Amino acid sequence: MPDDLIARLPKSELHLHIEGTLEPEMMFEMAARNAVEIPYNSVEELRAAYSFANLQEFLDLYYQGMNVLLHEQDFYELTLAYFQRARNDNVRHAEIFFDPQAHTNRGVPFATVINGITRGQQEAAAQLGVTSKLILCFLRDLSADAAMATFEEALVYRNQFVGIGLDSAELGHPPSKFADVFAQAKNEGFLLVAHAGEEGPSAYVREAIDVLGVHRIDHGNRSLDDPELVSDLAASGIALTVCPLSNHKLGVVDDLPSHPLAEMLERGLLVTVNSDDPAYFGGYVNANYRALRDALVLDDVTLVELARNSFRASFLTEEEKARHLAEVDTLAAAEGIRPVARSAAS
Ligand code: ADE
Ligand code: ZN
Repeated sequence: MPDDLIARLPKSELHLHIEGTLEPEMMFEMAARNAVEIPYNSVEELRAAYSFANLQEFLDLYYQGMNVLLHEQDFYELTLAYFQRARNDNVRHAEIFFDPQAHTNRGVPFATVINGITRGQQEAAAQLGVTSKLILCFLRDLSADAAMATFEEALVYRNQFVGIGLDSAELGHPPSKFADVFAQAKNEGFLLVAHAGEEGPSAYVREAIDVLGVHRIDHGNRSLDDPELVSDLAASGIALTVCPLSNHKLGVVDDLPSHPLAEMLERGLLVTVNSDDPAYFGGYVNANYRALRDALVLDDVTLVELARNSFRASFLTEEEKARHLAEVDTLAAAEGIRPVARSAAS
């Protein structure tokens, strides 16, 4: 259904792991040219393995898959391929994650990774008109010292990323474990985000805000377990970058009709829709909007609100946000869709 309102809406994507866009076809192509063995005989067999009972089962395949990424050109092609798909979904701006430790720990230099991604971002801006920012994520199941060492190594490339985040296996690895590196990054002027409340409890969301001082929460589903936290999130305007197909594939929700996005909106949260690891979860950003629209019976006003939120919650300047929001509003007006102000207007 390429010509629905969702396709026409300009949008930004704020929760996207670039390594999670490695499609099986590209994985096989890179495996062949880099002489890396992958333990599957075909694209079909690999895709059939994408069935996960929880986050860890996904992470095991995700880290295995990225073994084919060895050279700067691989990271460049991966990045550009994502932006081509994003452009097809009318994504105007993306704030993308990368996991440097997953590469440096297997001998791929930091420079190879970040320079390939940066080149892909530059090409996407020049050729496709999609702007982007890069966020460096620490693997929270590794040590705090390893995160600090990675951050120090990354400082040489400080102009190539705008913020830091926290991802990988959540349970047992609370945000407070990374208080020092987040404090240092804040001092250095970086923006801060963290995955929290995906599999972990609402207390991890609270810690990410109070201890790390994050500007956005990635996922945040479990926030709804704590009414006071929900009020604080709503009052502060800290956004949640929600990923519906990911939540379904990883068992964070039983099924899409029980996804909490509608409740999040009703409770005044600044919620956005994103694809997380689309090559593994069965759809890029528009597929995520459509799955939610169908499961939760979202009306056009709500879809427009979600597109607006994607810009409001971004790290763009106020002027850039205003320009994108005006475009969304022009489309909505042309289609006779009147936005409703749910919480604070903007
Ligand atoms: N790394 C890639 N995708 C992730 C997710 N959904 N949660 C935690 N870590 C991740
Ligand atoms: Zn994620």
